[in-house]
Amino acid sequence: MANRRPARTHPRIGAAVKAPAVKIDDEYPTPSNVWRLRTDVWEYLAYAAKQLHGVTDPTLAEKGLFDEVKRRLCILEAVEAYWAVPGMAHVAALRARFEEGDHAAALVLTEAVTRGFARFEPDHEDHLADPDSPAVALEPARPALPDPRPRFEVLVVDDMSETVREEFVAEMFSQRRGTDAFAYAVNVVPSLEDALIAVLLNPTIQACILRPGFSVPSRHRPGDDLRKYLDAMIEPGVAVYPPHERILKLADLLKGLRPELDLYLVADVSIEELAGASGRRFNRLFRRNESMELHLSLLQGVAERYKTPFFDAVQHHSRKPAAVFHALPVSRGGSVVNSRWIKDMGEFYGLNLLHAETSATSGGLDSLLDPRSSIKGAQQLAARAFGARRTYLVTNGTSTANKIVHQSIVAPGDVVIADRNCHKSHHYALMLAGAQVAYVDAYPLDEYSFYGAVPLKTLKGMLLDYRRAGRLDEVKMVTLTNCTFDGIVYDVQRVMEECLAIKPDLVFLWDEAWFAFAGFHPIYRRRTAMAAAAALEANFKDPDYIERAKAQRAALFDAETGQPADDQVWLSTRLLPDPETARLRVYATQSTHKTLTSLRQGSMIHVFDQDFSHLNEVTFREAYMTHTSTSPNYQILASLDIGRRQAELEGYELVQRQAYLAQSVARMVARHPLLKKYFRVLSTHDLIPEEFRATASPMPLQDGLAAMDEAWRTDEFVVDPSRLTLHIGKTGVDGDTFKHKYLMDLHGIQVNKTSRNTVLFMTNIGTSRSSVAYLIDVLVKLAEHFEREQSDMGPLALEARKETVAALIGTPPPLPDFSRFADRFRSDDQTTDGDIRAAYFTTYKTGSCGYLMPKQLAERVIAGDEVVSAGFVTPYPPGFPILVPGQVVTKEILSYMEALDTREIHGFDPNLGYRVINELPARPGRV
Ligand SMILES: Cc1ncc(COP(=O)(O)O)c(C=O)c1O
Repeated sequence: MANRRPARTHPRIGAAVKAPAVKIDDEYPTPSNVWRLRTDVWEYLAYAAKQLHGVTDPTLAEKGLFDEVKRRLCILEAVEAYWAVPGMAHVAALRARFEEGDHAAALVLTEAVTRGFARFEPDHEDHLADPDSPAVALEPARPALPDPRPRFEVLVVDDMSETVREEFVAEMFSQRRGTDAFAYAVNVVPSLEDALIAVLLNPTIQACILRPGFSVPSRHRPGDDLRKYLDAMIEPGVAVYPPHERILKLADLLKGLRPELDLYLVADVSIEELAGASGRRFNRLFRRNESMELHLSLLQGVAERYKTPFFDAVQHHSRKPAAVFHALPVSRGGSVVNSRWIKDMGEFYGLNLLHAETSATSGGLDSLLDPRSSIKGAQQLAARAFGARRTYLVTNGTSTANKIVHQSIVAPGDVVIADRNCHKSHHYALMLAGAQVAYVDAYPLDEYSFYGAVPLKTLKGMLLDYRRAGRLDEVKMVTLTNCTFDGIVYDVQRVMEECLAIKPDLVFLWDEAWFAFAGFHPIYRRRTAMAAAAALEANFKDPDYIERAKAQRAALFDAETGQPADDQVWLSTRLLPDPETARLRVYATQSTHKTLTSLRQGSMIHVFDQDFSHLNEVTFREAYMTHTSTSPNYQILASLDIGRRQAELEGYELVQRQAYLAQSVARMVARHPLLKKYFRVLSTHDLIPEEFRATASPMPLQDGLAAMDEAWRTDEFVVDPSRLTLHIGKTGVDGDTFKHKYLMDLHGIQVNKTSRNTVLFMTNIGTSRSSVAYLIDVLVKLAEHFEREQSDMGPLALEARKETVAALIGTPPPLPDFSRFADRFRSDDQTTDGDIRAAYFTTYKTGSCGYLMPKQLAERVIAGDEVVSAGFVTPYPPGFPILVPGQVVTKEILSYMEALDTREIHGFDPNLGYRVINELPARPGRV
């Protein structure tokens, strides 16, 4: 304070403002809104300081500006305790400047922060280090030279006195060197609850140092939402746990929230004992006086995640001089830079791309087909990041990833239970593999013309059918899409748990094409295949779980005959697998490029298969060879590597933000008078029938993180809040026209999926506040357009419009369930599986199939003929095959197709009609 300028006689906010007297409920920081709240509050205070600077009119106070400044300072005091930078000292200095009426200094302090926000790096603490210094108090804001090094925050958890805290932070700072690869700032919180709040609110925290002196409850008052979320997470008795157990508990809770964090333990007493008990929770344990080692470990921990072996190898290669006597003329720009005609290629893509193109697999580069160095390293890091035992990078999208997994698991004749509504790559893969496909139907959402997801009861029912038919041993795999295109998310753990209770060696393929981001948010993560497999693995070792499973089995099987109880009992019981016999064989395929940073086609296969090395490694390798190019695209691989780095270091922040942004659009659509007249965001209540929900909130995340947490813990299905299905029926425009004409052509807004009366908007980790504001603005403009259009209509046009709207809002012919395979392709009449490959290849025989126009086909079906499809018929939207090879055509399918106003129908030739199999002699030995 020594050189502080004397207070002026300007209007002041009044020194009486202390910690908030009431909770700031509406604007209390929660993990999902804190990033916006912080930015807005700092920006508001900068604005207020600017307004007040040089103003001497005391009536300003009456205008509410001062009250607002006080309120916002209270918000900052609730938030900044969890940030090292700018941190509490900076906020205290700001409060003091406002209280003294020194608005010039307040402006300097606020702008120092907002300049950081603008540059997306709010933590240039060198400039902020001493808020009381004369430079800060007197000099006008000037741009700080940005430190190019990536920055992060380290959280220390210990209840220390102010002096000890200052000494500790100073000691850590004294270790810093200009040559360090990263810079970090240190924040200290006193308690377990504060530590959890800090890692939830502050995504820049990358490492936590635990010291045994921490207390348990927070001294701040978390808002209701955060309080409830913490209460659901923290066991009641933690405060009385012995110190060792309390430390381990906190480590587990932190890892449960953000598994990527590096944890360090600094303790003096019993450090050896703690080391023995801590398992792999901590990166390292230290004694108190080892700050240099601690500093180096902090840097190394982050370097581990920052590492991108393949991206580095590509960069290194591109900088090395080389002469190419091999394929790939574009390599090093050879065929481009000297060309007279295609120079623009080099200009557009830049020389780096051409320098990075190579077909070499040595010199630091690696072979995707036999990875031994940098690609192997990239795959290992990806496995760690996504919680997999192994990860394989794929350069041809999840379409190929799915084919690889299917081929690696399924032998001809194996029964695979598949969602009929799944992506076409599964159907083609099952056809290639020669699977006996048993299709299951997702629950339909006829009103909106798309499907939900497959109820667990349907899956269990199907497995029990096979058990009754004596064919359970033939059932090899279940494949489901999580989440669905429309954002319906399964309870993955429960599905696997209950299915394994019926068939303990069942393999699961979860198509997570749309869900790669989910691994980086604590609530989403629980419903990913890898996290669910890990949770089941832990359960299978838990003595209490083993006991409960044993008791349940005793009740489900007759003690004397060993016969299972009636199927109804199995269907109505929440089944637990037998941990002794159940095997966890779980695969997930992810289109990294759809939801994380990666070039198009970048995908990953994550494996959590306890039997991989002895049952599947060889077939997996062969399947991988079958489908992988011998010239995989290095840029895609490098982008997967760097996309993984980003997910590990800032995935949590970005995923939270994308969900929040989507919800802000939903809120706006629900509140805006004109928007709600034409549009409606479909809620959980619209998308998930009541029988699959235990919680009541229509949009859980809008009620807070705790509500989302509860729904995601308990409901059979939940909706991904980062996706919005907008009902547009009241505009009188169908989904396809809305997408092309109104969104793309008029406003350059790109969406992918539509249905008859809905448009799907997805946020992603690249979505910004301004793109969301643009979307809202466009929706308002469109609503105004529809409003104007209506007011200009005469009575006839209005009547016609009314009819169009009624048709769009009304329910069309129901989505047709999978009918059945023709008897020739089935195994028996007790089960439903069909030999899709036999059906497909039947059509290769000359004269085996022909075409029928819809009218002729309808006549034959109505006449009772069994007409069998020769191929896949897939309308876009909805994008799943309405017919597959070998499937019997029904009236319901034809009515549905007739009502469909889709332009694009793969497998249907408008000039020739449907391709059908001509004749089907009975197959010996079959039904
Ligand atoms: C559920 C699902 N699985 C797989 C795929 C194929 O993914 P990719 O485009 O990466 O080949 C898609 C594509 O939209 C999909 O929706």
